[in-house]
Amino acid sequence: MDTYLMGYSSSIFPSVVPANTEPPERRSWAPAVYYGLGKEIYYFLGHEIKIQEAIDHYGGVVWPAALALCRFLDTTMGRQQINLLDQSTLELGAGTGLVSIVATLLGTCQYLIQLAVPNHVPFPRSTHYYDYVLAADVVYHHDCLAELLDTMLHFCQMGTTVIFANKVRYQSDLVFIENFQKAFNTTLLTELDEVRIYSATMRI
Ligand SMILES: C[S@@+](CC[C@H](N)C(=O)[O-])C[C@H]1O[C@@H](n2cnc3c(N)ncnc32)[C@H](O)[C@@H]1O
Repeated sequence: MDTYLMGYSSSIFPSVVPANTEPPERRSWAPAVYYGLGKEIYYFLGHEIKIQEAIDHYGGVVWPAALALCRFLDTTMGRQQINLLDQSTLELGAGTGLVSIVATLLGTCQYLIQLAVPNHVPFPRSTHYYDYVLAADVVYHHDCLAELLDTMLHFCQMGTTVIFANKVRYQSDLVFIENFQKAFNTTLLTELDEVRIYSATMRI
């Protein structure tokens, strides 16, 4: 599995290698058109997180669901409902990586994945067990939503909790949510700034 961050730099994670120090042959994509000259600054869990956003890929900016999920994780109620301490966590469609950064601040041991959906391969279950799978605003390619759901199911085993944060924009978001609710046992944890945050576990 490739793990990388894009469009991001932060002084709080010296151990994470920024994308632009990777040799070119190892980069899937590197930002070229930046949103602004400066870095966007976010404050979560008492930390300042700086992200240089890029506009030449939709994953290069921080989306509303990522912000809402980080805000929720920064509350007592959020931390009671989503306890990431020492949990093995995977983020799907991580974009700039803000959610993963905040999850790491909460003590998760985690993998970061830039969602890559195999289109034609039958999907066995993941061999690695994750306590949490996080996904914020990943309902984006509206012709790949079945594959997105397959990807979530692939990484989810007995005991895994999927945290899915989504801002509803189109009818197809609602169709995806309906299918998500059919595929998993789901609970709506909260709704913040039009972003719904669901917790979901495998159906037996
Ligand atoms: C709108 S961005 C959201 C990024 C980040 N999670 C956030 O909230 O700021 C959607 C992300 O999901 C990934 N993604 C969604 N569906 C995908 C698909 N079918 N194939 C590949 N990547 C997908 C994109 O690469 C992108 O990083």
